[in-house]
Amino acid sequence: MTATLKLGVLASGNGSNLQAIIDAIGRGELDASIELVIVNEPNAKAFERAQAAGISVQRILHRDFPTREAFDQKLAQALVGAGVQWVVLAGFMRLLTQAFLDQFADRVINIHPALLPAFPGVRGIRQALDAGVKVTGCTVHLVDHGVDSGPILAQSTVAVRDDDDEASLATRVHEAEHQLYVATLQRLGSHKLVVTRDPISKQAHATLHPLEDSK
Ligand code: GRF
Repeated sequence: MTATLKLGVLASGNGSNLQAIIDAIGRGELDASIELVIVNEPNAKAFERAQAAGISVQRILHRDFPTREAFDQKLAQALVGAGVQWVVLAGFMRLLTQAFLDQFADRVINIHPALLPAFPGVRGIRQALDAGVKVTGCTVHLVDHGVDSGPILAQSTVAVRDDDDEASLATRVHEAEHQLYVATLQRLGSHKLVVTRDPISKQAHATLHPLEDSK
């Protein structure tokens, strides 16, 4: 049994992950619809990608709002108004307020270009190269109030080659991201998401359980 996911995508830049989701839906490989794309940077290429795909897209620029709360409130209004169930961050370079996260509790997901909890924050690919790790990758996780700290949903590994520079490694990490994001969204549609919190460490864990077949 699967549910058609109603997605809202937030992006700040290139939007290659957005494109991967658009393409997977187009090929019939992902049972989802993108109800709204929002970009918060005036020149985000993600805007044109959404337009080209005929998807409803808005520019909501954080600089036009006096506070983080006011910006997030506007985002939430637009997403709720569009009927969005899952908020998908695709290169969205803003931290979200707790009020926003509460409105979409355990329904905001992000992709990060490293194997969290290693190398959170900006330039995850550069951080991996600088650390000299032999394996890196990407992580899809639920978003919480921290920086790339929410419960992990899925990860994919990428081997680091001796002759890699940031550009060459980024190319392979991004390819892995595009596959992992689509695959994880597909699983979210066909599974029940359960988030548990360890009473002592307070660490949250996410698990996905197959939905029962409805006969
Ligand atoms: C990706 O590397 C993603 O992991 C990070 O931001 C980048 C966005 O790339 N959060 P794109 O805009 O989807 O091409």
